[in-house]
Amino acid sequence: MYFSLPKEYRESTNEDLKERIAAAKERLGNKLVILAHHYQRLEVVGFGDYIGDSYGLSKIAAEQKDVETIVFCGVHFMAESADILTDESKNVYLPNPLAGCPMADMAEMADVMEAWEYLEEFGGDKTFMPISYMNTAAGLKAFTGRHGGLICTSSNADAAYKWAFERRKKLFFFPDEHLGYNSGIKYGLKPEEMVIWDFSRDGGGLTTEQIDRARVILWKGHCHVHTNFTAEHVREVREKYPGVLVVVHPECPREVVELADAAGSTRFITEYCAKAPSGATIAIGTEINLINRMAHQYLDKKIFELSGQTCPVCANMYRTTINDLAYTLENLGEIKPIKVKEPVRGEALLALEKMLEVN
Ligand code: 13P
Ligand code: SF4
Repeated sequence: MYFSLPKEYRESTNEDLKERIAAAKERLGNKLVILAHHYQRLEVVGFGDYIGDSYGLSKIAAEQKDVETIVFCGVHFMAESADILTDESKNVYLPNPLAGCPMADMAEMADVMEAWEYLEEFGGDKTFMPISYMNTAAGLKAFTGRHGGLICTSSNADAAYKWAFERRKKLFFFPDEHLGYNSGIKYGLKPEEMVIWDFSRDGGGLTTEQIDRARVILWKGHCHVHTNFTAEHVREVREKYPGVLVVVHPECPREVVELADAAGSTRFITEYCAKAPSGATIAIGTEINLINRMAHQYLDKKIFELSGQTCPVCANMYRTTINDLAYTLENLGEIKPIKVKEPVRGEALLALEKMLEVN
């Protein structure tokens, strides 16, 4: 996809852009709502009517009544989900159309279909409950809905596991192997009950015995931001700052989550910082924009990034600028909103509605 912001918006000063955004918000009044994910840049978050994690923002989108325009400052799968969860009269815009999610791209429709076809021999949807992480394209959410499954986020993954195991014997979880694995351990599964489906290999690289024995088939996918964190980082930070609190996102590998004091969604992490006592030292394993915002917000606490050396930035979340936001708000009639068409929309909605019920 090619996207180039008109020169006028590229070259405006921050001051001018901020004034224009404020004026557009004023003009559009309660017909507009701006949703901002916790990983957005500080200046973008400043314009959010709501700031949240992917679960919370979907819920807010679904609850909108009189609003006509939803501007979703986040990544593509989030705006797409908001469109599915709202009625036809509402238009959802993604200010920077290039903001995708590399993890979501690790589960391609054709690969997932091939895996599912293979799993049909092991009982298909009589045996396997598909759970699709929110970070997937709409077509995969529709596949999940069609087969009776649900969408989960890091906020409701534990509840999703419980819900799914109450209904079927095994789970087919995609695309984040780490969230899937961490949720399985939390649910009480043994490591050997979870296997990784490697989509680049025939039969996922698994033997029939492995599939027979497994309770969860995990897609081989990951987030490049969260897999940067290591157990060594946690050990080092504990040595350097005795008493430090370590909080991480469950997209981090198991050994990191295991050594941390707490793990949870982006909303959980922000609440963790808010609740920590004044004077607390907190090392966070997630995206840098959230961490910087927390450090900025709670000056009475020492808040910093866990690894201390890498810069865990989500380049896709970072794409959205106030230049994009100003352009979107001033050109709503010209820009194509995100629209998911039937039958994908209806099938994906089934899975997303279950997500909202199961929390
Ligand atoms: P949350 O659901 O916790 O907001 O996370 C979304 C995400 O993309 C994390 O990398
Ligand atoms: Fe995707 Fe990772 Fe960015 Fe989240 S942080 S949007 S999972 S690439």
